[in-house]
Amino acid sequence: MSNSSSKVLPSPDLSPVSQDLTRLNTLGLASRAGAFVTLEDAAQLPALSQLAHEASSLLVLGGGSNLVLPSQVPGLVARVAFKGVRLLEARPDAWLIEAAGGETWHGFVETCVNQGWDGLENLALIPGTVGAAPVQNIGAYGVELQERFHSLTAWDVRAGRQVEMSVADCRFSYRDSVFKHDESGRWVIVSVRFALPRPWRPVLGYPDLQRHARLAAGQPAARDIFDAVWEIRRAKLPDPAVTGNVGSFFKNPIVSAQVRDGLLERFPGLVSYAQPDGGYKLAAGWLIDQCGWKGRSLGAAGVHERQALVLVNHGGATAADIMGLAHAIQAAVSERYGVRLEPEPVVV
Ligand code: EPU
Repeated sequence: MSNSSSKVLPSPDLSPVSQDLTRLNTLGLASRAGAFVTLEDAAQLPALSQLAHEASSLLVLGGGSNLVLPSQVPGLVARVAFKGVRLLEARPDAWLIEAAGGETWHGFVETCVNQGWDGLENLALIPGTVGAAPVQNIGAYGVELQERFHSLTAWDVRAGRQVEMSVADCRFSYRDSVFKHDESGRWVIVSVRFALPRPWRPVLGYPDLQRHARLAAGQPAARDIFDAVWEIRRAKLPDPAVTGNVGSFFKNPIVSAQVRDGLLERFPGLVSYAQPDGGYKLAAGWLIDQCGWKGRSLGAAGVHERQALVLVNHGGATAADIMGLAHAIQAAVSERYGVRLEPEPVVV
């Protein structure tokens, strides 16, 4: 996005280098790319298309917080580092904000809260970048990205052109979008525009927020929700800077009312949430926990001791260790509940 005129623009050419990716994926898996480039300016995108055309594959890297990487990533890896956040329009019914794909998600949310552009505070502290957020339609504490999304600008690597995409084009659903279904490496998300509804209304329905002391009294401001979400996440989820993880490793499975009722009869403690279409979302963390996997490890890969949906790297784990543990958990949950758990991260 915007570059001040005093800054030296990066060259539109790209020269791939070999790069250690261990610190560029939040699971902290030891990984290396033979050919790696950093995208700092949209002017480099035609060169990326050229390189991708010659490479066997392209992996687009944001914050690396939703990836399981092999020790050697084949083909080309491109890290998105476009920067910039700006208010496009203060409409009476919404703030229209644009953020570049390489901005860190949490930093962007914090900027919005500081500026009084309220509406993203429930999504505080989610790791990753702005550009990666629409890919899996991030969500937490009662808010999903799609509810605050306006449109985005993406580079179609294959066609070598820039496109604008609306909410309909993105085909969002729970932790899902068109970007997870198209061939990998087709899209680079350059910038995302958000419409934050005015007047602002707090979203406080999620049980963890209802229980939080900071929000119990009076009328909380967006900053209070931001702080409460920060505290809840810090208490429950491991900090990827300390313990490697990708947040929830599995999606919460969605089942029919019939399946849910059958399970509830046999397992009265089952945690489930009614969906608008009549189905039910089951709390995968509860299922895994009940199978006795919370806090357990297989080699260097483990299940977090405070949130069973989070797999962690205790140090030196490989993709095979993580996937071995994931498969063991899937087998246990499937055997006991007849429910298939689907991984949330992209396994390269
Ligand atoms: N639970 C257990 N044991 C556990 C973990 C959870 O019994 O070990 C129970 C909890 O007591 C609760 C229910 O399961 O009744 C749900 O747990 P929680 O509120 O922690 O949320 P979640 O469904 O496990 C989802 C998202 C998180 C998001 C939280 C808060 C998915 C896959 N995960 O987790 O998102 O932060 O809700 O909204 O939808 C992520 O996607 O990486 C992520 C962290």
